Amino acid sequence: MKRVETPFQIVVFGASGDLANRKLIPALYHLATEQLLPEGFVLLGFSRTDYGDEDFRTLILDGLREHMKDEHNGKDFDETQAAAFVRNCFYQQGNYDSKESFEALKTRITELDAEHNTQGNHLFYLATPPNVFQPITTLLHEMGLENSQAGGWTRIIIEKPFGRDLHSAQQLNNHLLKLFSEDQIYRIDHYLGKETVQNILVFRFGNGIFEPIWNRNYIDHVQITVAEKLGVGDRGGYYDQAGAIRDMVQNHVMQLVALTAMEPPVAFDAKAVRDQKVNVMQSIRPLDAAGVRKSVVRAQYAAGTVNGKPMPGYLQTKGIAKDSTTDTFVAWKMEIDNWRWNGVPFYLRTGKAMQTKVSQIDIIFRKPPLLLFENLYDQVNLPSNVLTMRIQPDESICLSFDAKRPGPAIAVDPVQMNFSYASSFGRESADAYERLLLDALLGDGTLFIRRDEIEVAWDRVTRILDGWHKAEETAQKAGEPLKLPQYPADSWGPTEADELLRRDGKYWRNEAPKGQ
Ligand code: BG6
Repeated sequence: MKRVETPFQIVVFGASGDLANRKLIPALYHLATEQLLPEGFVLLGFSRTDYGDEDFRTLILDGLREHMKDEHNGKDFDETQAAAFVRNCFYQQGNYDSKESFEALKTRITELDAEHNTQGNHLFYLATPPNVFQPITTLLHEMGLENSQAGGWTRIIIEKPFGRDLHSAQQLNNHLLKLFSEDQIYRIDHYLGKETVQNILVFRFGNGIFEPIWNRNYIDHVQITVAEKLGVGDRGGYYDQAGAIRDMVQNHVMQLVALTAMEPPVAFDAKAVRDQKVNVMQSIRPLDAAGVRKSVVRAQYAAGTVNGKPMPGYLQTKGIAKDSTTDTFVAWKMEIDNWRWNGVPFYLRTGKAMQTKVSQIDIIFRKPPLLLFENLYDQVNLPSNVLTMRIQPDESICLSFDAKRPGPAIAVDPVQMNFSYASSFGRESADAYERLLLDALLGDGTLFIRRDEIEVAWDRVTRILDGWHKAEETAQKAGEPLKLPQYPADSWGPTEADELLRRDGKYWRNEAPKGQ
């Protein structure tokens, strides 16, 4: 891994919150212990909670003790290193929309710059709810903090959700671009920091043998599944305003589509990679209301038992309106209208409270032109060659094909060629936030989302939201308020999602015949 050589100050807004505590600060700590950060770095936390430096340090230490073990890929926590780390951490209390708070913040930043010789390099991290993105950035600008007066660089990381539809995403972009230049803005999607997600590019473009068959001539269809076992838990307030389509599809799932479907970039740099991602996203067929009805399924989980414990249904969860039509599951038959993918559907699905936590991409190849062994299979589920890229857990890439079962008779069994990250590399991959923080500190925007990219993703998703909205209005007018299909918690989603594939003569991979 590259190392950050220049000293810097990272200012985290929302520093007392869950994301900072569970992800960002552990990631920064781990970068520090891996010697990837320079001596002179400062972490300045800013939030409304009334803390002093020492309270903040205690919060960090408690957080590190807990999360380095549980959530940070089991990496060990070291008291001495953590004690050294927190000496670089400071805290500034303030309100996100108060000029006085930002004046005090500016003074503090300037003092810390001088004390720690940071050369005026500043990374602002907005780990706050989205309703304060605008006030924070406006005040940073008013304070003249959009450019470092000491001559260093200034960058800003914006967390999701970046808007809630195309219009609000455009507004936020317009606002930010009045204050910062595009190359200062790092729109984060933590999926792009996952090793296995980056490996999609290496797998496709670092090898000669896959690219020639990566197209409509050889591929029958693609399935992308991002399933989560847990329900919405205590995030109901946020989730009911978002739903799976905003929370997962617009960002993480569409990023997986872009990396799987994009054309080869001319170089592995921020411009070339993102140009190709935008190109392929622009080829995603936009849906009108009729298209949404035909190609998109949404549903909510009903009560069930998860990990041996009863889980209330979505509509019975705290913070959720009883008549909510928010989706906890989405399946979308996506068509990509370009030469490479014409006629190759991408079936996407994501949901909460599903049978297992798994994120994977299945590339299902066409069957051989002449099925010599056809009579050996059950006719519905004729096996195919499938390439599975497992993002998490048990990160792996697996190719399934048929082999002859040993013995005098011709009998065919599916077998697998498997590459597992754990057994090949024998080391844990770095947490997604670690990689992304490092890249932002190094000024590499390749794994962050560009303005045009986020807007085209929102465009396609907003059309789906509009279609749903129309359906709700029509139902309302007919005096029969819309109710979403339900699926039992701990299942693979509603039967409507199975039907989406079945009518094309296909089935989700969890229904695959045994052994495949
Ligand atoms: C977040 C969503 O962006 O991604 C969460 O807001 C979701 O609802 C999470 O649980 C999934 O991330 P991961 O890395 O656990 O797959």
